[in-house]
Amino acid sequence: MDRPFLDLGPCSPLRGALRVPGDKSVTHRGLMLLALAEGEGRLYYPLKAGDTLSTARVLRALGAEIEEEGPHFRVRGRGLRLKEPEDVLDCGNAGTLMRLVLGILAGQEGLFAVLTGDASLRRRPMARVAEPLRAMGARIDGREGGGKAPLAVRGGPLRGIRYTLPVPSAQVKSALLLAGLFAEGETEVEEPTPTRDHTERLFRHFGLPLWVAGSRVRTAKTGPFPAKDLTVPGDFSSAAFFLVAALISPGSEVVVEGVGLNPTRTGLLQVLKAMGAEVEWRVLEGEAGEPVGYVRARHSPLKGVAVDEGLIPLMVDEVPILAAAAAWAEGETFIPGLSELRVKESDRVASIAQNLRALGVEVEEGPDWLRIRGGGVRRGEVESFHDHRIAMAFAVAGLPVGVRVWEPEWAEISYPGFFRDLLGLCGAS
Ligand code: S3P
Repeated sequence: MDRPFLDLGPCSPLRGALRVPGDKSVTHRGLMLLALAEGEGRLYYPLKAGDTLSTARVLRALGAEIEEEGPHFRVRGRGLRLKEPEDVLDCGNAGTLMRLVLGILAGQEGLFAVLTGDASLRRRPMARVAEPLRAMGARIDGREGGGKAPLAVRGGPLRGIRYTLPVPSAQVKSALLLAGLFAEGETEVEEPTPTRDHTERLFRHFGLPLWVAGSRVRTAKTGPFPAKDLTVPGDFSSAAFFLVAALISPGSEVVVEGVGLNPTRTGLLQVLKAMGAEVEWRVLEGEAGEPVGYVRARHSPLKGVAVDEGLIPLMVDEVPILAAAAAWAEGETFIPGLSELRVKESDRVASIAQNLRALGVEVEEGPDWLRIRGGGVRRGEVESFHDHRIAMAFAVAGLPVGVRVWEPEWAEISYPGFFRDLLGLCGAS
């Protein structure tokens, strides 16, 4: 079978300003909370891409009315009580969808649902949500004892628990907080390492119970709550590709506007600064409790760094594009704390190492770390590994010299139009 590919570049410099599509994490959560709210609410400028369209499809099967209104979504919620789906719920490639919706379904008394997904999602670990949800009283079964999808859930009465996250995961934290809305008493999640806090900010936006004290976040059973409109900021994870593209291409200057600058998402900016990047950002406004502003990046000579392990959860989706920056830096970059990357849409530690080698970069791969010897890349061919962020990161890595990206359509999971936007900045003056 012929596999699709895209030849890009060489292209330099990149110049211009752009807006990126809406934040994926906020779109998933916004749709879910509006589906649980009473009455009608609008989600302005959501991400409309593979993953979030899967969320809309699943929520429709659970009885929410979701209509497209130009670039927006209009959602009529169910007021906490979802409808039993008539068929298996297909979560596609979206781990956030499967894990968070499991938390919601666990608390739907009497409702039976089966969740599945594509080959990548069916390989990803689900015990991390199934186990604490079972401790709350949920009935969840599935392959490998409920550790892998397909998963079956029968909703029932839940009770609150106190739980310390064994791995830093915003998805696990969020699944438990969502289940906590249906559980008797209080549900408390402690996270030893901070992770993205969009769920907490949205709970506040909707007036849901929430207390945060240091590393502990707590919620409680809620009564019906009204829908409230919500504007989704641009996705920092999507902006990151253009920032690094500008940093590595001589003569470039790129500004991304209207982008979410939640500090639990922007760890990459700190690492790029330490590498010597000319990058600046400013928060200009707030949208539904999320700071929003611009980021500007100019071509800069980069130097390798040893990345602080504590920053990884604050840039967990940006490691592939950091690896691209490291390939163009002078000297060695060491990235620790990567065990979670092994269980993303692909084994990203392996995907990064293989693609860097394909571009002539020397790289050493440990169980949970990467050591990258920088100095530039040579023209080559990279694989997407069925992983949107790998496809986009390595398109950027090879852009200054020219690159062939195999199966580039995977980018559409989080960013339809990515290659058009990237090439739109090319060679403009
Ligand atoms: C996400 C959390 C992260 C991230 C994913 C989106 C979220 O996953 O990698 O792309 O929206 O909560 P983990 O919770 O597994 O770290």
